[in-house]
Amino acid sequence: MKIIRTKDYEDMSRKAAGVIAAQVVLKPDSILGLATGSTPIGAYKQLIAWGRAGDLDFSEIRTFNLDEYRGLTRDNDQSYFYFMRHNFMDGAGIPVERTDIPDGSEPDAERECARYDAAIRAAGGIDLQLLGMGHNGHIGFNEPADEFPKGTHCVDLTASTIEANKRFFASEADVPRQAYTMGIQTIMSARKVLVAVSGEDKADIVYKAFFGPVTPLVPASILQMHPDVIVVADEAALSRCKL
Ligand code: F6R
Repeated sequence: MKIIRTKDYEDMSRKAAGVIAAQVVLKPDSILGLATGSTPIGAYKQLIAWGRAGDLDFSEIRTFNLDEYRGLTRDNDQSYFYFMRHNFMDGAGIPVERTDIPDGSEPDAERECARYDAAIRAAGGIDLQLLGMGHNGHIGFNEPADEFPKGTHCVDLTASTIEANKRFFASEADVPRQAYTMGIQTIMSARKVLVAVSGEDKADIVYKAFFGPVTPLVPASILQMHPDVIVVADEAALSRCKL
C-alpha cells in the first residue's frame, strides 16, 4: 500500500486525478471503476479540465460505478447515475454506452446484480477502481458486517449511512433504504485501487482501516491485502497516523 500525503482537499483532488490520468495515458482503453460522494468531485473537475485542455483523451475508456440506490430511476437527481453524468461523464464527454452502473430501477435484485458482475467480467475486469470511504469504513455500500460480502449484491443501508446521506435529500424519509453495490470481491478483483480521503472527520477510520486489523467490521481494512493500492489522503485525514 502506497500512501500519498497531500496538503488539503484541493491538493488531494489534483493528485488523485493525476493517478487516474496516468492510468488513462498508459492504457487509453482502461476500464475505470468510479465512485460518487463528496470526496471525488474535485478530482473529477480536474480530469474534465485536463480533457478540455486536450491533455487527456477519454474516448476509449469504459466505466463501471460502485453502486446505486435501489428504487431510483436514472433521471432522479439523487440517483448515482445522475450524479456521475453531472459531475464527470457529461463534462468529460463520455457517452452513456461506455458507462455502466447498477440499474436502481430494476426490481429483480438477483438479476441486476448478476448482470452487473457479468458485464464487468465481459469487459475484462477493472483496471483502476477509485474509492471513497465512509466514516464506518464502508467502501461502496459494503457496511460493517460479520463477513466480507463477495459479488455485487443488494444491501440494507445502515442508520449511519442514511444519516450521512440525508444531506443530499429533502428529508431523511426520502433516503432510499436499499442499494445495489459491488461486493468486496468485485472491488478486490480490480487490478489497481485508488482510495481518496479527506478531512479530520475521517482521521479515526483512516487509522483503523489502514493500520488496524483486517476485519469485516471495518470493510476498507481488506484493502491491506490488495497488492496494488494507492491511498491519496490529506493531512487532516492522516492526522492520527504516524507516517
Ligand atoms: C460512493 C460510495 C461510498 C462513498 C463513501 C464516502 O459511490 O460508494 O462508499 O465513497 O460514503 O462518501 P463521501 O466521499 O461523501 O465522504
